[in-house]
Amino acid sequence: MRIISSVREMQSLVNGEIRTGKRISLVPTMGALHEGHINLISEGRNRGDVLIVSIFVNPTQFGPNEDFTNYPRDLEGDLRKIENLGVDIIFAPTQEEIYPVEFQTYVEVKELQEHLCGHFRPGHFRGVATVVLKLFNIVKPHVALFGEKDYQQLKVIQRMVRDLNLEVEVVGYPIVRDKDGLALSSRNVYLSPNDKNSASQVSKSLREIKRKFDMGCRNTKLMVEFGKKILEEAGVNDIDYLEICDSETLGSKELASRGDLLAVAVRIKGTKLIDNIRL
Ligand code: PAF
Repeated sequence: MRIISSVREMQSLVNGEIRTGKRISLVPTMGALHEGHINLISEGRNRGDVLIVSIFVNPTQFGPNEDFTNYPRDLEGDLRKIENLGVDIIFAPTQEEIYPVEFQTYVEVKELQEHLCGHFRPGHFRGVATVVLKLFNIVKPHVALFGEKDYQQLKVIQRMVRDLNLEVEVVGYPIVRDKDGLALSSRNVYLSPNDKNSASQVSKSLREIKRKFDMGCRNTKLMVEFGKKILEEAGVNDIDYLEICDSETLGSKELASRGDLLAVAVRIKGTKLIDNIRL
């Protein structure tokens, strides 16, 4: 497993691999790797000849009052977790490598970035799209894998790839959950055991709403009120959104249909958690 931090070195290495006909597979991450990442990496191994994992905590996707400084960073620990997964290259650039002085070019996926988390994290998806496009230009993957927990991120990236004619296959991979149903996230390390109990109610509220839908309910306002009650009864009062929306446009809906996205974002003692399921 080679560790590369220079953009130039990464590009020249990958150019050599592509010249010999190798298929490049990329798993972009911000580190603090968990079982969800491990699954993405294992799937990435199946989908390419050269498997590259990027580890970069991207400053441009954090708002001024978010956790960029405190975001968990543990490169050594991450390397240990993935040493047996057949990763060929870890691309772990510094901030200056990715955003040199006077950097001033950004990418925006105008409409998709406005919904759901977009209301609460202005500029977040612009930062995500920009860094992912840069990673695609540096690593030149044929296939890139992203977790479906960040469903809106996945849609933003797929749309960017389509709109900008990028030759990358973007693959979404199902959410990985702990035994209590909590969606795995690097930010779960901020949660105390008590917070984790409350956090497990987040996926429970989604499952209960889906149960209502399966029983024939279609009124999204009723279903959302019902889900919010479950959360509030569990002490989860800081809800950014709980919404049923079209799974492609992410626009909210009055009447739900099968396949719609049911998405939620809450804060538990300041820790932001997101989750989703499809109806
Ligand atoms: O999902 C993440 O870890 C990040 O948003 C990503 C895609 C690596 C971009 O920084």
